Amino acid sequence: MARMLPLSIPKLFIFSLLSSFSVILATGEDHGYVRTLDRKLIGLKKEKYSHIHFYWHDTVSGRNATAIQIVPPASNFNATFFGATYMIDDQMTAGPELSSKLIGRAQGFYSLSSQEEVILLMAMNFAFIEGKYNGSTITVLGRNSVFTKVREMPVIGGSGLFRFARGYVQAKTYTFNSTTMDAIVEYNVYVLHY
Ligand SMILES: *[C@@H]1O[C@H](CO)[C@@H](O)[C@H](O)[C@H]1NC(C)=O
Ligand SMILES: *[C@@H]1O[C@H](CO)[C@@H](O)[C@H](O)[C@H]1NC(C)=O
Ligand SMILES: *[C@@H]1O[C@H](CO)[C@@H](O)[C@H](O)[C@H]1NC(C)=O
Ligand SMILES: *[C@@H]1O[C@H](CO)[C@@H](O)[C@H](O)[C@H]1NC(C)=O
Repeated sequence: MARMLPLSIPKLFIFSLLSSFSVILATGEDHGYVRTLDRKLIGLKKEKYSHIHFYWHDTVSGRNATAIQIVPPASNFNATFFGATYMIDDQMTAGPELSSKLIGRAQGFYSLSSQEEVILLMAMNFAFIEGKYNGSTITVLGRNSVFTKVREMPVIGGSGLFRFARGYVQAKTYTFNSTTMDAIVEYNVYVLHY
């Protein structure tokens, strides 16, 4: 006991010196591979709240299809297409016509996820190409009950000008052709971001 005391005092001193250095540099705890950072030092100033409005063009039919089935439905669930999966690269436009201004593309997939109803699991990135948002993305992951008037899905993240994005989208079918299965859907996106 008596011999350990003089050793532990300098150790403690060095330890507290080191921790106060890391407090200055990183403000907070240091667990070796995780550091707590001061959000002001990395440029996170004021959180913004944005509303984004566009039309989403899901073309299943024809030579210019943007939604392509990559997995067929489970054969005993043909009525609700359970399991069917479509990879999408859908246009996002300012107006309801495909010829209106292209603001980005919705890239990802949707899968039919209910054995009893027509429900989609959607996983997609809104990749914006317009103006200062060019290169920024918003990620949506949610449940889309396609025959409900307004469907709400969570925004789970973003990149670029949408870093730290969280919020929700509201999707409302604008036109749906039950012969071709082509759809135009109006999207209202509400996001908090930096
Ligand atoms: C496919 O897109 C091209 C180029 O935009 C267009 O000229 C053509 O009419 C489209 N075809 C169909 C079947 O929509
Ligand atoms: C479901 O559809 C597939 C492909 O059209 C067909 O082979 C299969 O027999 C169908 N299953 C049932 C249960 O109707
Ligand atoms: C968006 O950014 C890409 C890559 O930097 C660039 O090639 C493209 O021209 C930009 N598009 C618009 C519409 O500004
Ligand atoms: C659905 O698409 C078919 C094939 O392109 C077309 O003949 C029909 O007029 C469309 N229906 C509606 C309601 O737009």
